[in-house]
Amino acid sequence: MPTPILIDCDPGHDDAIALLLALASPEVELLGVTTTHGNQTLEKTTANAIRVLEFVGREDVPVAAGADRPLVRDLFVAEYVHGESGLEGPELPPPTARAVNVHAVDFLAERALAAGTPVTLVPTGPLTNVALLLARHPQAAQRLGRIVLMGGSIAEGNVTPAAEFNIWADPEAAARVFSSGLDITMIGLDVTHKAILTDVQAESLRSSGRTGAMVAELLAFFSRFHRRTYGFEGSPIHDAVAVAHVLRPGLVETVDRHVAVDCESTLCRGRTVVDLWRRTGNEANAHVGVDIDSSAFLELLVERIRSFDA
Ligand code: BDR
Ligand code: CA
Repeated sequence: MPTPILIDCDPGHDDAIALLLALASPEVELLGVTTTHGNQTLEKTTANAIRVLEFVGREDVPVAAGADRPLVRDLFVAEYVHGESGLEGPELPPPTARAVNVHAVDFLAERALAAGTPVTLVPTGPLTNVALLLARHPQAAQRLGRIVLMGGSIAEGNVTPAAEFNIWADPEAAARVFSSGLDITMIGLDVTHKAILTDVQAESLRSSGRTGAMVAELLAFFSRFHRRTYGFEGSPIHDAVAVAHVLRPGLVETVDRHVAVDCESTLCRGRTVVDLWRRTGNEANAHVGVDIDSSAFLELLVERIRSFDA
């Protein structure tokens, strides 16, 4: 039986690839996609989720739009990484369908309650929708089997020296999620920066067919930022690592630790303070990714993207 999953995302180049990975994988059944502000405005991330699904003929997967801003902070979009549309690079037609007429938070609750087996929620954007789900539908949230989220970091930041973008964008939401008592796996930068899809690997997708070519176009744009900023010869596909960890348990090595989110300071806003050496005595509230079998991840990702054109 495939694991039922819901992806809450802000596409976004790596979110788009995470969606494709889920769609191409028999290990999971994608029950729906919800969208949030993040890499671009909610309007654009919602359109982008639909554009990706329509590109591969999966308009049967419903998309529900959610929060258009963080709980308390001002909206900030990562246009400097993902471009004006949020999905710059390929020539993707505008969406023909619209999001369903239900707010993402209610949609998540409905799907979690209706599923016969516990649903895995994979958030790959700021955690606003997930925090709202906890507040508005606590019983439905308790029905989630687990949350495997892309966000945070033990040791580094990408939007500031101290913080990763998804957590920084809505730290108050992230703090609520980490203290919810749900089963949380944190796939952070410590892991995703170890699994770089090289420009050569990305270009090799181009010849596999129209989906491979579209992904190669996405990555050609995405990797410019990573080359400029980090000197990487390729891109981390952050959000796809979270999906891959659901497909292949153990792909990411995790340790159980307490994670707190800094909502107080200016300098360290959104930092995930991971008690790696157990200095506080606080009980672990997350499985924190510390290492990854990067070749297994990259092989899986490339194989699944190629399968669209087989
Ligand atoms: C995360 O931030 C976004 O820009 C990416 O889509 C990913 O979810 C990486 O920090
Ligand atoms: Ca994302």
